[in-house]
Amino acid sequence: MSFFARFTGPTTSTFFAVAVMTASVCVAGHAQAKTDTSKMPWMNKALSPDQRADMVAQQMTLDEKIQMVHGTGWGVLRAGDPVPAKSNFAAGYMEGIERLGIPGIDLADSAVGARMAAYQARYATLLPSTLGAASSWDPDSAFLYGSVIGRELRAWGTNMSIGGGVNITREPRNGRNFEYAGEDPILAGTLTGNLEKGVLAQHVMSDIKHYALNDQETGRTVVNVLLDKKAMRESDLLAFEVSIGIAEPSAVMCSYNLVEGDHACENDYLLNEVLKKDFKFKGWVVSDWGATHSTVKSALNGLDQEMPGDENYFNAPLKKAVEGGQVPEARLNDMVHRILRSMFAAGVVDDPPIRSVVDPFRGRDDAQHIAEESIVLLKNADHILPLKSSAANSIAIIGSHADVGVLSGGGSAQVDAPGGNAANPKPGGSGWTEHVYFPSSPLKNIQAHSPQASVRYADGMDTAAAVSLAKSSAIAIVFVNQPMQEDMDAVTIALPGNQNALVDAVAAANPNTIVVIENGGPVSMPWIDHVKGVVEMWYPGIGGAQALANILFGNVNPSGKLPVTFAKDDAQLPNPVVPGLAGLPATETTQYHKVAPFDLRYTEGAKVGYKYFEATRKQPLFPFGFGLSYTTYAYSGLTVDDAQRTVHFTVRNTGPHEGTEIAQVYVSLPAAANENYKRLSAWQRVKLAPGESKEVTLPLHPLSLTVFNTDQDGWQLLAGDYIVTAGPSSSDNPLKATLHVHP
Ligand code: BGC
Repeated sequence: MSFFARFTGPTTSTFFAVAVMTASVCVAGHAQAKTDTSKMPWMNKALSPDQRADMVAQQMTLDEKIQMVHGTGWGVLRAGDPVPAKSNFAAGYMEGIERLGIPGIDLADSAVGARMAAYQARYATLLPSTLGAASSWDPDSAFLYGSVIGRELRAWGTNMSIGGGVNITREPRNGRNFEYAGEDPILAGTLTGNLEKGVLAQHVMSDIKHYALNDQETGRTVVNVLLDKKAMRESDLLAFEVSIGIAEPSAVMCSYNLVEGDHACENDYLLNEVLKKDFKFKGWVVSDWGATHSTVKSALNGLDQEMPGDENYFNAPLKKAVEGGQVPEARLNDMVHRILRSMFAAGVVDDPPIRSVVDPFRGRDDAQHIAEESIVLLKNADHILPLKSSAANSIAIIGSHADVGVLSGGGSAQVDAPGGNAANPKPGGSGWTEHVYFPSSPLKNIQAHSPQASVRYADGMDTAAAVSLAKSSAIAIVFVNQPMQEDMDAVTIALPGNQNALVDAVAAANPNTIVVIENGGPVSMPWIDHVKGVVEMWYPGIGGAQALANILFGNVNPSGKLPVTFAKDDAQLPNPVVPGLAGLPATETTQYHKVAPFDLRYTEGAKVGYKYFEATRKQPLFPFGFGLSYTTYAYSGLTVDDAQRTVHFTVRNTGPHEGTEIAQVYVSLPAAANENYKRLSAWQRVKLAPGESKEVTLPLHPLSLTVFNTDQDGWQLLAGDYIVTAGPSSSDNPLKATLHVHP
């Protein structure tokens, strides 16, 4: 069956037929057999993961080694395919080597929470999108995010998460931006690295993906991305470098696309040169599902494991290639070593998961906490927010199923909603292109915060009814949405359907209109001047409505700042039309398999997002790093320590509320760098009581100060003067100082 049949073939009911057929086998398979480890010296925890891996590998037969470097097939992902007895219903499964005490690996999709819950009659917490969570700029929150995923996978009996998306937002219409962490490589890499640490701390293996330059879904399997090495290293690859430096993830998933002529999963430069040599990555490279295209070339160029496995490049053909000498056995040993050492390092051999009941309450609280840090207040004219319960005696809630729930992102990141899709309940799991709402009701939570008010709902499908409700209410809150998912990009950053017209109509009817946005990536706001408030809540997760209500009523002071630039319209973007999309009928959306192979040269180079806007002197709708608060902050006293490469400044809360300010530091490199843009270099969340001041000392991120020198094939620190600025966003830099770097 062809690869894309996976997305068009299985219906929910066939999925479930498979589940029923295989469940009993799996349960039996999971009865935990006691292994006699007395004759297994590699079970000695005092040895290093590398020593232990070598000891195991020495005992393995060629067949066992081959078994380890490929999966067992599409399994649960493709209706009718066999599901291995010992697998735990994850997207991929590697059979273990029982006689040596090595468990199988369940590679579970879990970008924003564990996938396939309905299939297994389990529960999974839906977290805010990782893009939303990146608005917190909070490494601790990212760690918590990973902990929730690790904790729940462990309870499911699963030992590996394949979330960890860190592709930077080069294409704001990319359908998967919600699974990633924004446009800045250092911010995205730092947050994803901490997320990975959170997963690993639960003794669950982690991966980061999709390596590399898989920055759009349109034509994702046929697009050949062209970008010079310097730009690559300073942008997309830097996000992976930072993340790997923080977390040592167990695996890196190579992507579907081609880079400079070679598929990412058989790309010597990406895998051998950069990932394994320069980044010193010790884990294994796993292919995206169906992204392996060869045996010998892939093996020699750095791929370590083929998933899901039944394309059979790394099964019998690899064995033949090893026997025939086209692939040295040492290379196969290296693949196996990387997998085994990552298993030992993460603790999945010493401390395997024990099936337990997921704690949905703890998950919801964690999700709400992350959402409260993720929501970004974009506009607050006349201090319309926070809502004063006394003034808001009648509130109109309009659109986006805000009576019942909040939107989630789709594709392989889709988490199944408890009770089914709140907007369209039915038995079973979520369909591939379904817009799934989670039962966290904005209407109910707003009503709970404002018990004396009349809070009424209009679905927004009938503009006249929405207008009439808005007219008879003191406040109108319009919920707008942008559903996004793997496998297709948005055609435009404009909100889909008639939502812009709806906002305009409501705003014309009610001067106190607030817009709440549920989106996968940046959207345009042609109505921005006509509304009083704009609240960016992304896909906010299972605690989303509670978090939103806390923000709207001021129980929580918003602190999130945008991890992506919001352009005014598509014309401002480096590519006004999604590359590869031109010529497809607009109604076709952008299914990747409908596009013929094409080259995509990213002419903006390393200037992604705010760097591009600054370099081209374009004014976006909202800049990177922007976000308002119910209080105000003042910055003063920036000094720079040339020797330590640290900055020091003071932030003061000058307003009436306690709040947390995300203070940001940017650097502009000396003239020799030939760059006409700033780079994010450091940031800190600073919590301040009204009137309080705090001094902040921050190290400048070393990789924000260096350029990639392709002749020397390494990072280079240029001598000269670096302009350092500090302030509340990429476009508001009240403080300035100079860092002197001497040769
Ligand atoms: C996606 C991966 C995912 C895999 C398994 C692929 O289509 O690109 O992110 O992990 O499927 O579901």
